Amino acid sequence: MGMAWQVTQLLLLSLVTAAGSAQPRSVQARTGLLNVCMDAKYHKAQPGPEDNLYDQCSPWRKNACCTADTSQELHKDTSRLYNFNWEHCGKMEPACKRHFIQDNCLYECSPNLGPWIRQVNQSWRKERILNVPLCKEDCERWWEDCRTSYTCKSNWHKGWNWTSGINECPAGALCRTFESYFPTPAALCEGLWSHSYKVSDYSRGSGRCIQMWFDSAQGNPNEEVARFYAAAMKAGAPSRGIIGS
Ligand SMILES: *[C@@H]1O[C@H](CO)[C@@H](O)[C@H](O)[C@H]1NC(C)=O
Ligand SMILES: *[C@@H]1O[C@H](CO)[C@@H](O)[C@H](O)[C@H]1NC(C)=O
Repeated sequence: MGMAWQVTQLLLLSLVTAAGSAQPRSVQARTGLLNVCMDAKYHKAQPGPEDNLYDQCSPWRKNACCTADTSQELHKDTSRLYNFNWEHCGKMEPACKRHFIQDNCLYECSPNLGPWIRQVNQSWRKERILNVPLCKEDCERWWEDCRTSYTCKSNWHKGWNWTSGINECPAGALCRTFESYFPTPAALCEGLWSHSYKVSDYSRGSGRCIQMWFDSAQGNPNEEVARFYAAAMKAGAPSRGIIGS
């Protein structure tokens, strides 16, 4: 922590220096990390207001990468968005399911994930998110609320049997509790989607980690977080391993 803080100070110092020399290239590049939508299956090209975002996605109404239709669809079991069935091992507890819905809302709707967007060569999307620093409490609560639900896999991106058109447990993958496939909060939040998230040491409200849950009456706290990491990256920071590790 002490060292990370010192490094952060150094980065901010060099950022100020870089800004002083006013290089148009760095300004342009930084713009590309803030207020952007990733190039994936359902994202809008540009973020903008969406007055009718549904239920758990409503915090993003003022500025979103998802449409109202997407926001509604992603609340359904086995939505037509990805034909992905959360209940592949029987009923998922509602207290657990709400976290998966919120995870979907953040993924589809957030315009604040620019610093973690990476290009991928996948048939269904050109970009993904990698190592988004998820606030530790959001991950811990997700894990707590899901430990008694059931699954058969520890990475939900790959390895399903898609023969029926909907993900089913592959041969030999037994249904067991979440806790048995995900022994720790980090195993869940980082393993589930191939490291889309990295569990942050920072807490909700710190301005240094992305919140999956927030009260939009206080604005969107992830705007500040994206600004912080975008500035640090543009200042020449290693993108992983120091800040927020
Ligand atoms: C993606 O994969 C295809 C087929 O393997 C290849 O032709 C193409 O160059 C790849 N694109 C990138 C950006 O890696
Ligand atoms: C995939 O699921 C289908 C049923 O939908 C089943 O008939 C088939 O044996 C499964 N294949 C494997 C490799 O598990």
